[in-house]
Amino acid sequence: MALRVIMMGPPGAGKGTQGARLARERGLVRISTGEILRDAIREESATGERVKAVIGRGELVDDDTMIGIVRERLAAPDAKQGFLLDGFPRTVPQAEALDRMMAEDGGGPLLVLDVRVPFQELVRRLGTRRVCEMCGTNADPFGPLTTVCGHCGGRLSQRTDDNRDVVSERLKVYEQQTFPLVEYYKSRPTFRVVNGNQPPEQVAFEMNTLLEDAAVVGAQVGRARLS
Ligand code: AP5
Ligand code: MG
Repeated sequence: MALRVIMMGPPGAGKGTQGARLARERGLVRISTGEILRDAIREESATGERVKAVIGRGELVDDDTMIGIVRERLAAPDAKQGFLLDGFPRTVPQAEALDRMMAEDGGGPLLVLDVRVPFQELVRRLGTRRVCEMCGTNADPFGPLTTVCGHCGGRLSQRTDDNRDVVSERLKVYEQQTFPLVEYYKSRPTFRVVNGNQPPEQVAFEMNTLLEDAAVVGAQVGRARLS
């Protein structure tokens, strides 16, 4: 059965890092709404122009825009083979819209991975993160200090929303608008909490184990629905 994964967690939890690996290993389409928006800003599209200031302030882009973006992306044929959502849903209306899309589409239940990391560690990670201006890849935080991307040779710099004031706003917005989603999902049998405050390989190991387990339970739920 095609896996449908949501990677939840605060800014800096490691959603991008782990999401890219998991999607690659499992053959899933990774849909990072933050990356889609940053691409739109880089391309100076109408959406990009509209969301630039909102992202710069660390606030959330409006639900209608985000739901429209994800609805369109999930309708593409490659997403039918399984997907991993990174950064969506981020509000209860987004989660409700996603449930409606899933119901229309049939298929198995959503597997929800909620990555937890203490506040101070999030602040540390975001304050030190360097990202490639060309391909958007994070520099290896454990690698040698460099200004050049190891993947494409592009220049590494700080993400515009990683300065101290904006980070503080993003974390506040997460607590107020996104953390309530834990309540929304936590009673589902396919919801799992991941300890993101460990070395990346250990996070990956824990995530794989929890995902396998959630997928088995998800398949049982899917069969029960059909019978
Ligand atoms: P988005 O791009 O989604 O940003 P975010 O959620 O704030 O998360 P980050 O990308 O900052 O962190 P991450 O969890 O991916 O961590 P990473 O792997 O990079 O969204 C940006 C903006 O777009 C939002 O603020 C909002 O304005 C808008 N937006 C997007 N989606 C939206 C939606 N659905 N609705 C409304 N608005 C939306 O890791 C962070 C750092 O830590 C890296 O340096 C990494 O190398 C390092 N690291 C990772 N894992 C570890 C580890 N285990 N140990 C040590 N360091 C680690
Ligand atoms: Mg990210």
